Amino acid sequence: MGEALSIRLASPGTTLHLVARRRDRLETLAEKILSRGATPRLHEVDVRDRPAMDELARTLLKEGPPPTLIVANAGIRGEGDGNSREAMEEIFSTNVLGVMNTVAPFLSAMRREGRGQVAILGSLAGYRGLPEAGAYCASKAALSAWTDSLRLLLEPDGIGVSLVNPGFVATEMTRKNPYAMPFVLSADDAARRIVRGLQKNAPRIEFPLPMVLLVRILALLPPRMGDSLIRFSGNKKHK
Ligand SMILES: NC(=O)c1ccc[n+]([C@@H]2O[C@H](COP(=O)([O-])OP(=O)(O)OC[C@H]3O[C@@H](n4cnc5c(N)ncnc54)[C@H](OP(=O)(O)O)[C@@H]3O)[C@@H](O)[C@H]2O)c1
Repeated sequence: MGEALSIRLASPGTTLHLVARRRDRLETLAEKILSRGATPRLHEVDVRDRPAMDELARTLLKEGPPPTLIVANAGIRGEGDGNSREAMEEIFSTNVLGVMNTVAPFLSAMRREGRGQVAILGSLAGYRGLPEAGAYCASKAALSAWTDSLRLLLEPDGIGVSLVNPGFVATEMTRKNPYAMPFVLSADDAARRIVRGLQKNAPRIEFPLPMVLLVRILALLPPRMGDSLIRFSGNKKHK
């Protein structure tokens, strides 16, 4: 989704700093960004590596003003049992601490500047714990609370903060999903909706609507009723 989003955001005169671990993927993306007249800058960094992320921020802040938009997109679904201690550590280190490592080093400079936007990739899975995805759902719930808090803190300084909660999007992450993905969107469609939401500085950018309604209703139901509905839909899928 980060790739589709950066292509949409690429326009003449724009510089995009792209952070990921796989150099070859970054280079392929850089060519697409160049062809749109924007300038790509590639950073082969692991967002879990706090000193490296701090160093990257220091370098960029020495070069020029703080970013006008930070998108904290890196996230993983994790392997195996989503409720183990290992899953918690693996997923929280990227999805929660990695997001903090991406955003936090720029905040002081952005506040001094009095402008900018932060977009954090959460998920509709953050509304409610789902089977075998406890760590993933919990990580996205943590981002939801953190984003609300950050927005309250930063809006008086002129900084917009948006939580992006997509439903299913066809990406590398979901390619191997063994279950049906209702209302699945393409990465480009998701990116289009995210850009539209960012233009409005929406506090929450959530889509597609049927999934948003479904998870919100599920979250409002008494827990046992919600559990029964989730079990029922799981059993139907396995028949
Ligand atoms: N796809 C969905 O259905 C869906 C739905 C809701 C929310 N989301 C969220 O949307 C975001 C993007 O998901 P996606 O579906 O586009 O996933 P994806 O196809 O797996 O892409 C994830 C991106 O994050 C980068 N990344 C992962 N771990 C990293 C690390 N430790 N350091 C630096 N970069 C890292 C990956 O690059 P490298 O591997 O090269 O580092 C890749 O570019 C995630 O936060 C995800 O939780 C996805």
